[in-house]
Amino acid sequence: MPTATITVTPHPTMGAEVVDVDLAHLDDDTFKAVLDAWHRYAVLVFPGQRLTEDAQIAFTKRLGRLERLVTKKSAANLGNQAKIGKLANLDKEGNPVPEGSSLWLFLKGNQYWHSDSSFKTVSAKASMLSAWAVPSEGGETEWADMRQAYDALDQATKDRLEGLVAVHSYWYSQSLVGGTDVLSEEDWAALPPVEHPVIRTNEDSGRTSLFIGRHASHVKGMDEGEGRALLEELYEYATQPQWVHRHRWQPGDAVLWDNRSVLHRGRPWPPGDRRVMKRTTVAGEGDNDWMLGEF
Ligand code: OGA
Ligand code: MN
Repeated sequence: MPTATITVTPHPTMGAEVVDVDLAHLDDDTFKAVLDAWHRYAVLVFPGQRLTEDAQIAFTKRLGRLERLVTKKSAANLGNQAKIGKLANLDKEGNPVPEGSSLWLFLKGNQYWHSDSSFKTVSAKASMLSAWAVPSEGGETEWADMRQAYDALDQATKDRLEGLVAVHSYWYSQSLVGGTDVLSEEDWAALPPVEHPVIRTNEDSGRTSLFIGRHASHVKGMDEGEGRALLEELYEYATQPQWVHRHRWQPGDAVLWDNRSVLHRGRPWPPGDRRVMKRTTVAGEGDNDWMLGEF
């Protein structure tokens, strides 16, 4: 499809919708147009793509090396499982797991604002989520634009935040929700707390943003309670409705977002309803243990 036909419509608050594009068959020029739009809007909603797992993996790989999710098991022999994560509230028989169960609590963690893999030494660059089964109501995903939130800070606050480093820990964030027994002791041991600057600049867009979210537990070198209070204040401030877009999923929709520039969260849905999503993740720049090899 020639580049000229992709249609990008900005949402009123943040992000954009892209139609007249087939992500499974993108020539280089059209891919470039998608990439430019992604750098500009940070969140791109692609309704009705109905990507297969292989097509989602192939598209996501064009943005960089993929990252495994939170288990370090060797990628060998896992097939697509290492490359695409299934987020489903289902047991082995395909029935919804009960509210309050380990898996349910584990998934509930996604309902608090976060940037994917901010608890890893190299946090994720991009994520793509596609919808396979959607609940009768709820289950939306929301994104908040950390670039607009940063830009709107007064200069004194920008100056105060410059140079601050937050400590991010998956154990911290997930302990607040529960469901920590979904990962093994060994998996948890591979996820020690890491540090990231609170202010970051996106290498692709040049835009500066707040880099915070639920995994950020405190501020390095600051009294723990004081740092936590500051992060909570920023979290509330930065996720105000004027910078948030909510997507109501239809099966087949796909959304690509930039974890360097936005936070996201899922919304609750009736626990008896099935919700099946598939996620691919592009690793941040630089080598890291979670990056998958070339394949
Ligand atoms: C994710 C995530 C939210 C959702 O896939 O990284 O946070 O709505 N998902 O499922
Ligand atoms: Mn996420």
